[in-house]
Amino acid sequence: MKIDVLTLFPEMFSPLKESIIGKAIEKKIINLELVNMRDFSKDKHKKVDDTPYGGGAGMVIRPDVVYDAYNSLKIKENSKLIYLSPQGKTLTQEKVISLSKEEHLILLCGHYEGIDQRVIDVLNPEEISIGDYVLTGGELPAMVLIDSVARYIKGVLSEESINEESFSNKLLEYPQYTRPEIFLNKKVPEVLISGHHENIKKWRQEQAIEITNKKRPDLLKK
Ligand SMILES: C[S@@+](CC[C@H](N)C(=O)[O-])C[C@H]1O[C@@H](n2cnc3c(N)ncnc32)[C@H](O)[C@@H]1O
Repeated sequence: MKIDVLTLFPEMFSPLKESIIGKAIEKKIINLELVNMRDFSKDKHKKVDDTPYGGGAGMVIRPDVVYDAYNSLKIKENSKLIYLSPQGKTLTQEKVISLSKEEHLILLCGHYEGIDQRVIDVLNPEEISIGDYVLTGGELPAMVLIDSVARYIKGVLSEESINEESFSNKLLEYPQYTRPEIFLNKKVPEVLISGHHENIKKWRQEQAIEITNKKRPDLLKK
């Protein structure tokens, strides 16, 4: 999958170089391009924002800078533009899975007070929020989206680990245990060391329902 990120702060994306996503980028399963929108400023001081018309706090990113940065990309018929915005629909696992099937994502990150509405109207992106709170910029939300979507791209994780994860069957995942077998006098549940696969499967299913009921009963109601 190709992912272009339009941002004023490309340096903020260094966490994606680490761990599983870092490997997926290295192996070119994900082709991540960070586009610095500041490069598209026509101002001699590379200014990209200005004060809001009508007054008020903060600065607004200029529409021409965003428009030119967007048009510098190789846009195809199936390219999908997403504006990370607190006003968008909240990202869910279902949405993550559907985005993982896209060929080309373009992620637009706002900052300061946001982006001039006219360029949003012209480019008509899908707006996605990562929750009902306001962050200083779209960079962290873009990284959340990339990380969650990347996990569903073939070759990034094993299929087993994706299918058994929380939310995959509208349930939270069963509890996990590893060595040592006894920790602070607490033993790993007997069934898990029994080697009886059917019983393990049944126990995990029961645990998943119990945990979901306890922690997120709203998921069971759905
Ligand atoms: C400070 S916010 C602007 C908030 C805007 N003035 C409002 O009240 O709706 C700056 C940028 O951060 C990003 N952002 C902030 N909170 C977000 C969230 N919950 N989900 C996705 N993006 C968010 C957006 O890209 C936004 O343009």
